[in-house]
Amino acid sequence: MSNPRTVSRVVRSQVASDGAGVKLRRSIGMGDISELDPFLLLDNFGTENPDDYIAGFPEHPHRGFETVTYMIAGQMRHKDSTGAEGVLGPGSVQWMTAGRGIVHSEMPEQREGEMSGFQLWVNLPAKDKMCPPRYQNIDPGDVPIADLGDVQIRVLAGQVLVGGDEVHGPISKVSVDPVYIDVTLSAGSRYTHDIEPGHTAFAYVFQGNVNVAGTAVEQHHLAILSDGGEVELSSENGGRLILVAGRPIGEPVARHGPFVMNTFEEIQQAVQDYQNGNF
Ligand code: FE2
Repeated sequence: MSNPRTVSRVVRSQVASDGAGVKLRRSIGMGDISELDPFLLLDNFGTENPDDYIAGFPEHPHRGFETVTYMIAGQMRHKDSTGAEGVLGPGSVQWMTAGRGIVHSEMPEQREGEMSGFQLWVNLPAKDKMCPPRYQNIDPGDVPIADLGDVQIRVLAGQVLVGGDEVHGPISKVSVDPVYIDVTLSAGSRYTHDIEPGHTAFAYVFQGNVNVAGTAVEQHHLAILSDGGEVELSSENGGRLILVAGRPIGEPVARHGPFVMNTFEEIQQAVQDYQNGNF
């Protein structure tokens, strides 16, 4: 172990509205963090008031990147132009590679009075932007839990070391080689996670308070990490966060609503293809 990461910036998420009036908290993808290469957007959705989200995200297109939905509570009913349809229950993850184009709807629903989760947008490199659409739908029972006693980690993507064993997340063959883990820290616990040097990384605290590399990060705040290797997480009173990392793409980003390409011409083409029903 050497070269631990530090927190380069802490940002409070902002209440925003998307879809048909869904209230959510956005951190990446607004203000001066329009992107955090390769991540384009991070939304933390969910309130106790169904009126805040029940209109959902009716039919809309995507091209050129990936949308990752992780449900903490409640469920999301989805349907798309490939004919796929299903319900994402609590603890499930859907890694959707939109590639050359998909049209889908995402409708949040309560379960036992609750609905919350995350949507992350992950960019695709130019060579993969027009790939065929692909889904990885992972049921809650197929997300392994790394049990470290006072720290519990749900491993969606990447790996966590438990003793000498590696616990691998089920998400595979993603361009940016991502890490996506959901870490629950009991009061007084500590966990250090190795991250590939050179990869972009952030933590988002959604319950309690967490010290990220020694910096106190409160609920609903995003901590952007410096480059380096491992990051140390700890909590005095308990907390829960997602830790996400991925290889930066380093290409120009042309962005227009649900289309993310490299050039303005490719955006115009996407709009035209969608209007002509070629998704
Ligand atoms: Fe979508």
